This record gives sequence, structure tokens and C-alpha cells, in this order.
Amino acid sequence: MRLKNKIALITGAGSGIGRATAKCFAAEGASVIAADINETEAIKTQEAIAKVGGKCLALAVDVSQESQVKEIISKTVSSFGRLDIMHNNAGISIVKPTIETTEADLDRLIGINFKGVFFGCKHAIAQMLEQQGGAIINTASELGVVGQPLYSAYCATKGAVIALTRALAAEWADRGIRVNALCPGPIDTPMLRSEFELSPEPQAEAKTAIASIPAGRLGTPEEIARVALFLASNDAQFVNGAAVLADGGKTII
Ligand code: NAI
Repeated sequence: MRLKNKIALITGAGSGIGRATAKCFAAEGASVIAADINETEAIKTQEAIAKVGGKCLALAVDVSQESQVKEIISKTVSSFGRLDIMHNNAGISIVKPTIETTEADLDRLIGINFKGVFFGCKHAIAQMLEQQGGAIINTASELGVVGQPLYSAYCATKGAVIALTRALAAEWADRGIRVNALCPGPIDTPMLRSEFELSPEPQAEAKTAIASIPAGRLGTPEEIARVALFLASNDAQFVNGAAVLADGGKTII
């Protein structure tokens, strides 16, 4: 029960890493707010948590809209009294050669992957200042650290999340707020599967991806949730402004 009595808001909690993290945090004693643009899937997360005796409230949000992000934080505070952990996790990928990436693609990626994280941090920090502390986790990616063909715009948004995380950690450390980035490698989620499906040979694509990972396999959403749990918990009291890789060693080779 490492998050006993904590209040945790997770975006993108209707699928993949966000859903696994919501389940993990709830199992560790937190009251979880599972926010997602796909409300139906967020409600499924809520139901799965309730079924095993955990506490979860599903909320709809489009993180690219500041007013909506502000609203879910207000609802969290009005329902649970505070906000201890903010996990800005919602994200999308667009896989394209740079010369085919449109301005609309770029606006969408920046809106969700970067502005969504910025808004989440901004409004969470405003609340955490009132209650003297909190922990923020921003899901970046190994692709914020290294490059990969067809991912230029995605890589740029994830690099921006890491830079934002460091700046915020420096800005608010003396007010008891820790801000860390979590950088997963290839994780077996609907997002990654849909990227494989873009290839005429999805299975071969998956095999190539796995061959680039020293661990010899994809990561699981639950493995990333455990790292988020560490960053959210008091075990990580002295961890601030870090970009924590959880990539099966992919970026070391
Ligand atoms: P996923 O596609 O399974 O889940 C993402 C969730 O975000 C979905 O439920 C989706 O509805 C939600 N979402 C999308 N746009 C939204 C918006 N505007 N507002 C609110 N919610 C929105 O993806 P996955 O793999 O779980 O990804 C989670 C995070 O992890 C993303 O930020 C992704 O970039 C990052 N990541 C994923 C990796 C992977 O291999 N799966 C690797 C590195 C980073």
C-alpha cells in the first residue's frame, strides 16, 4: 500500500500504460481519477478497479484543451479534497516520413503530447502549491532521448516533455513538488500494435522491433506502471527532474 490515502489523476487511463498504471496505483491504496478522451474506455478502467475493491472515478477529457484539463483537476479536488499525484500520460503517435508530415499532423501531436502535458503540469502545480507538495510524472518516451526514422515530429514532442520536466523540477523543487519524466521503450499496447499494423507485414515489423531490444521482448504496460509507482511514491523522494528510461536496454545499443 505505497500510495495509501493518496489521490492520483492519470490521463490516457482508458488504455495501455495509463490503464495499467490506474490499476496499479489503486491496488497500492490510491483513489484514482482515470481520465481519457475515450470516456467508454475510462469507465471500463473504473469498473475493473471497482471489481477488485479499489477506488476510481472515470472522467472525460481532451488534454489538448486547457479548459478541460483545468476542469478535471477541479473535479478531482471537489470530489477527493486534494491532488497528490498527477500522471500526464495521454499521448498519440504519428508515423510518417518528415516530408509527408503536414502542419495538421504537427498541431495534433504538439496539442496532445506537449500542450496536454504542459496544461496538466500547470494546473496540477497550482493545486499542489496550495497543499504544499505533490508528485508529477510525465510520460515521455525513449524517443525523446534517441531518434528513429518516421518519428521526427513524435520524437520532438517527447524531447520537449523531457525539457519541460527538467525546467519544472527546477522551478518548484523548493515547494515540495517533484516532476519526473518516464521514458518507456516499445511497450505492448494498442498504440504500438497499431504502429506495427501500418506496415504491410505487421509481424515482421514487430520482430524487427523486438530485435532492437536487448531484453529480447516488448515491455508490458504493467512493467511501466511499476516505474510510475516508484516515481509517485515516497521511495522517490530525492528523485526530481529525472528522465527515467524503462526500455529493456534499447537505448544502450
Ligand atoms: P494507448 O493508445 O494504448 O493509450 C493512450 C490513451 O490516451 C488512449 O486511451 C487514448 O484514448 C488517450 N488519448 C489520446 N488522445 C487523448 C486526448 N487528446 N486527451 C485524453 N486522452 C487521450 O497508448 P500507450 O502505448 O498506452 O501510450 C501511453 C503513453 O506512453 C503515450 O504518451 C505514449 O506516447 C507513451 N509511450 C508509449 C510507448 C509504447 O511503446 N507503447 C513507448 C513510449 C512512450
